[in-house]
Amino acid sequence: MDLKGKVALVTGSGGGLGRAMITAFAGRGARVVVSDINTGLVEATVGALKKDGHEVLGKVCDVSNEKSVEELYAAIGERFGPVDVAVLNAGILRDGLLIRVNRQNGRLKGKMSLEQWQSVIDVNLTGVFLTGREAAAQMAESQKGGVIIPIASVAMHGNPGQTNYSAAKAGVAAMTKLWAQELSRFQIRVAGIAPGFIATEMVLKDMNQQALDAWKEKIPIGRLGEPHEIADTALFITENDLVTGVVLEISGGIKI
Ligand SMILES: NC(=O)c1ccc[n+]([C@@H]2O[C@H](COP(=O)([O-])OP(=O)(O)OC[C@H]3O[C@@H](n4cnc5c(N)ncnc54)[C@H](O)[C@@H]3O)[C@@H](O)[C@H]2O)c1
Repeated sequence: MDLKGKVALVTGSGGGLGRAMITAFAGRGARVVVSDINTGLVEATVGALKKDGHEVLGKVCDVSNEKSVEELYAAIGERFGPVDVAVLNAGILRDGLLIRVNRQNGRLKGKMSLEQWQSVIDVNLTGVFLTGREAAAQMAESQKGGVIIPIASVAMHGNPGQTNYSAAKAGVAAMTKLWAQELSRFQIRVAGIAPGFIATEMVLKDMNQQALDAWKEKIPIGRLGEPHEIADTALFITENDLVTGVVLEISGGIKI
């Protein structure tokens, strides 16, 4: 797909990887939709893109809320017409062990709470379901096809301390592959990205230097990824019409 003049949405594009991807799409001449749950981040990203002369719609949306997602796609349809590219990127972390046991006396110290589980499932799995479903509906009705890019994670293989996040991301990878089959008859391609450790707020906020250095040692290329390296992958998927039904692991070679 040639992105010039196309309509591209990235959820969670107020910051991090989402902002890098929406900026890359705008750079290719797409009309872009910045969407995030955080109003201030939407305003800041929209402002920066407009300053650079891009055509932008900003819309606050909670991807875990069906009505909010339906309103997002209605607003896109009204302003730009049907969406051509949708990156399902919004996500959160609520890490913790399934159970924590006191080593001395063997007593239970804590458990992953249902709230911890549910909040991540709501945003990272249900959010991808809702935003992917509405993208598919709009693309199919337009009869122009399109590209859907769900964002998974290498944690989809099962990362200790991330029961909720790994389960959600494995679900995202499964939906990516099955949607590629279900939606091909509408000329919709679906291909995902599973990033490794990328230097964004999500990763840097809660990690101390020691933990960060330990992770770096496990990454074969010896460094975290940069947001533009994920944005380059989103461009590659969008522009290469042969890519569908896969989840590309872009991780510097880390194995989980
Ligand atoms: N950074 C990494 O190393 C890494 C690795 C693997 C996967 N990922 C995935 O990439 C995606 C982006 O991560 P990031 O590192 O840019 O994180 P980030 O925290 O920097 O950005 C996530 C964005 O999503 C928004 N958001 C949160 N909840 C939302 C909701 N309910 N509705 C709409 N927007 C919401 C946040 O406001 C934020 O702007 C996530 O799906 C994440 O799981 C990131």
